[in-house]
Amino acid sequence: MSLSNFLSTLDDLQQQALDAFETANDADSLEEARVRYLGAKKGALKDVQKQMGAIDPSDRKTAGMRLNEFKTKVQASFDESKARLGGGDQSSLAPTFDPTLPGIRPQLGHVHPITQTINHLMEIMGRMGFEAAEGPEVEDPWHNFVALNIPEDHPARDPLDNFYLATAKTTSEKTTSDRNVEGEQLLRSQTSTVQIRVMEHQSPPIRVISLGRVYRPDDPDATHFPMFHQMEGLYVDEHVTMANLKTVLRVFATNYLGGDVQIRFRPSFFPFTEPSVEVDFLWNGTWIEFGGAGMVDPAVFESVGYDPEKVSGFAFGLGVERLCMRRHGITDIRDLYSCDMRFLSQF
Ligand code: PHE
Repeated sequence: MSLSNFLSTLDDLQQQALDAFETANDADSLEEARVRYLGAKKGALKDVQKQMGAIDPSDRKTAGMRLNEFKTKVQASFDESKARLGGGDQSSLAPTFDPTLPGIRPQLGHVHPITQTINHLMEIMGRMGFEAAEGPEVEDPWHNFVALNIPEDHPARDPLDNFYLATAKTTSEKTTSDRNVEGEQLLRSQTSTVQIRVMEHQSPPIRVISLGRVYRPDDPDATHFPMFHQMEGLYVDEHVTMANLKTVLRVFATNYLGGDVQIRFRPSFFPFTEPSVEVDFLWNGTWIEFGGAGMVDPAVFESVGYDPEKVSGFAFGLGVERLCMRRHGITDIRDLYSCDMRFLSQF
């Protein structure tokens, strides 16, 4: 066989093989083409290789190089088509998973027990006509102290009892005389700040609650944490009395804790209420303190520009964690702030 014959046979064969692979549109026709051109036993390549023997030895080198080129090109074309058809044989086109097996349920998060409690409290108080109000967690001394009738030398303003934010001077540079600098900011120590913020912008009648975080430098133990939540309530109108306060708190406690919850007022002192009381709920035969309350002090009304002769009001502040813990039988406040899903997923 002459070299030129051999080469033109290869050219034709190569063209046919490439066409066959490129036009194969399923695994079967691709496999058929593979057997026809590249098949080890009867394939066209096999025939051509046999013809090599009939070529003049001086031309064999050229013929061999062309044959190698043929093999590479045809193989590449086959590989490409195989990839295009997602495999090349029937079995690899079959699904690689068992669609009859049950799926894996995605893990969904859920609302944290404290947030659940907050939503529940807002819902109960909302039914009594209390709207939600909000204030910033970073406060100024006016809203956290001054407007609430807490004078400059009051122990509640002590740096050891508050998280003051470092301003121009660092904490270590501060002297005692610097400690109550007006304008210095702090993390609010109570939600009573929101009473002031609401009254500054609205006129009576006012009926709001505010639920949010407060901060105090307490060492964490089963009942203390440096950050916790309070529910503040404020009701201002003409002729508001302490009887109204007691009724609202009793209706609230009964709704939140269930049953007819007895409530008890113990005389106390807060600079921003007069008279002031500690509020206890009777729970399973024991009295438990849930917060403080009282009639809004006239000095507070004056600081927001209300006339204490015309309006009266009550305010209360209850601990949200304490309410949540009582309701769910939680005994350690720190569990609420752990990331332990075994604990959290129970709620
Ligand atoms: N702010 C008080 C506290 O954090 C609670 C309180 C609120 C008392 C409103 C009276 C009226 O202890």
